[in-house]
Amino acid sequence: MQAIFDLVRDVPDFPRPGIMFKDITPLLADAAAFGACIDALCEPWRGQGIGAVCGIESRGFIFGAAMARALGAGFVPLRKSGKLPPPVVGVDYGLEYGMDRLEIGSQALAPGERVVVVDDVLATGGTLEAGRRLVERLGAEVIGASVVIELGGLNGRSRWPLPLPLQALITY
Ligand code: PRP
Ligand code: MG
Repeated sequence: MQAIFDLVRDVPDFPRPGIMFKDITPLLADAAAFGACIDALCEPWRGQGIGAVCGIESRGFIFGAAMARALGAGFVPLRKSGKLPPPVVGVDYGLEYGMDRLEIGSQALAPGERVVVVDDVLATGGTLEAGRRLVERLGAEVIGASVVIELGGLNGRSRWPLPLPLQALITY
């Protein structure tokens, strides 16, 4: 995990003043570290009959798609508003400042399908929780979630329903 940690670069005041951006691109570019990261992210979900990995736009796509391949599962994108063709189902959620919306194709998951929700970063937790609600709106079952990075100081984990596993590879 240290090798993964060392390849996440802190960028102060990006994209806005006061935000410490976690740049994961050095990690993605390192074949061994990226592979180890995907292996570690998949570890809790192996042998659990996962039918689909739902990755959250945009950086959740990178990790989620690789995980889906490694788990022998399908990949389903949870996209920002207006990106997917109809019919879609959407949920609105609060950001630190303002609102946003995530959408999923309304036929993308089967009822009862076992799903892992994936994103790069857990900050305030609103995005991941919206992803969970969206999957459940389609009648699929959220088995848990994975993020690469948890910003512990923002307490996003408190918005995630406690009994459901929430895996974070690195916590700051
Ligand atoms: C960032 C990050 C997570 C989300 C976490 O995405 O990639 O998806 O914020 O924040 P939260 O826990 O406070 O909801 P962003 O919305 O900036 O979009 P991007 O992934 O397309 O860059
Ligand atoms: Mg994001």
